[in-house]
Amino acid sequence: MSTPQAEQPGKSFRILIPAEQIRVRIQAMGKQITEDYQGKRIVLISVLKGSFIFLADLVRSIALPVDIDFIAASSYPTSSKSTGTVRFVMDAEIDIQGRDVLIVEDVVDTGLTLEMICARLMTRRPASLKVCTLLNKPSRRVAHVPMEYSGFDVEDYFVIGYGLDYAERFRNLPDIGIVDDLEKSLKRNLEKELVRV
Ligand code: IMP
Ligand code: MG
Repeated sequence: MSTPQAEQPGKSFRILIPAEQIRVRIQAMGKQITEDYQGKRIVLISVLKGSFIFLADLVRSIALPVDIDFIAASSYPTSSKSTGTVRFVMDAEIDIQGRDVLIVEDVVDTGLTLEMICARLMTRRPASLKVCTLLNKPSRRVAHVPMEYSGFDVEDYFVIGYGLDYAERFRNLPDIGIVDDLEKSLKRNLEKELVRV
């Protein structure tokens, strides 16, 4: 029986980070986290929806007791200057007071989403709060957010696959890549479109 294939985004799809490279990098990140938190039990808070595949792979490469929780936020870009406002859609349930917390993010772009999430979680007085992101777009940063663990730096492309979507599609692609046409159309619609995170 042949393996079913995810929906393909078309001819202009260009792979940036192949699945095998993602797998190897995440194993190294998990190993590092295991060493850094030796003897501790950590809480991983995954930022939905984009980080669900990353979380699933990361958690299986961490050899520590882990609690898992989820948070969901949406950003509404109000201008091309990236002064987006962030709205919380779903909150985490685990009591994190006095706990070592690691936020698991798919991509840090302007940093505004993460800044708000960190501020919100800090009011609950965790013992520590750190960030683990699969992708980082340093050229787009507006808010300064410290990232303890970062998988790959990417240029200012709109990327899809491995959990990341374009209008809710292509999350199930095994590789991370870009589609030139999608990028153009996204830029055109940025002012009026709700971008789901
Ligand atoms: P920020 O608030 O600008 O850092 O935006 C972060 C959120 O926007 C991420 O959690 C993603 O879900 C989403 N996002 C940013 N860049 C991309 C991308 O290239 N592809 C898909 N989603 C993205
Ligand atoms: Mg996200």
